Amino acid sequence: MARGERPIGVFDSGVGGLSVLRHVRAMLPGEDLLYVADSAHAPYGDKSVQFIEARALAIAEFLVARDAKALVVACNTATAVAIAALRQRFDLPIVGMEPAVKPAAEATRSGVIGVLATSGTLDSGKFAELVRRFGSQARVIVQPCPGLVEQVEQGDLAGPFTRRLLEGFIAPLLEAGADTLVLGCTHFPFLEPLLRELVGKEVAIIETGAAVARQLVRRLGEADFSSDTTPAGGHESSLERRFLFARPQGTERFFSSGAPGQLEALLPRLWGSAAAVGSLGR
Ligand code: DGL
Repeated sequence: MARGERPIGVFDSGVGGLSVLRHVRAMLPGEDLLYVADSAHAPYGDKSVQFIEARALAIAEFLVARDAKALVVACNTATAVAIAALRQRFDLPIVGMEPAVKPAAEATRSGVIGVLATSGTLDSGKFAELVRRFGSQARVIVQPCPGLVEQVEQGDLAGPFTRRLLEGFIAPLLEAGADTLVLGCTHFPFLEPLLRELVGKEVAIIETGAAVARQLVRRLGEADFSSDTTPAGGHESSLERRFLFARPQGTERFFSSGAPGQLEALLPRLWGSAAAVGSLGR
């Protein structure tokens, strides 16, 4: 396969990373994308560091074996605990996620921001460092969300139980005066319509998918893999503009470590179109 035709590998503990993949697709319409949902092992949030690291390395091996030229760790939890190990093992651009504490601290008017994420992310050294660097501008209140990832994995984005869980998680944040909520887990953007209904229009909701897609474009350019990058969107840098319209529409291939049929059933709603799902094996 020619160098320029190599795919980009994207993975998450499950379907959450599809919220990042949609930004990658929007910015890079010509790229071929591989997506792995580790649904047999979701959620990562309450698993040990060793377990998540082992899963991230195994999935990265799988993607690299399919000639991935870059990896997107579309999971805050896996980024927090495993990105260092991935970078040590693989010599290719690896882009990860982190909760948007900095933009939230800059945007808040009340001086209080709330971060919704998994315990794995919130307990990590990387998150502590993020708060140390950017938290001086605002009071940062963290909220682990046990059970919420599972609701999204089941495709329950607005049912009564999901609503009750979410209400319980945001109540202390709103009571403390948070006017900006950070979605620190890639599953949560799928709950944004429900969250918006619960918090009203005055509270800002920040996610990081678009920023990660922009970072990926930059890294591909630096690594000279940009001959086939075709950013879209109207805010392109000169580097990005050089590659506009370079290729026809790219393809997507989906894999799951869980039952492929489960992801196939969710793709029309979470991705916007149906697709066959390959098996990753456990
Ligand atoms: N979507 C993930 C994240 O961004 C992982 C959630 C989980 O599996 O606990 O943190």
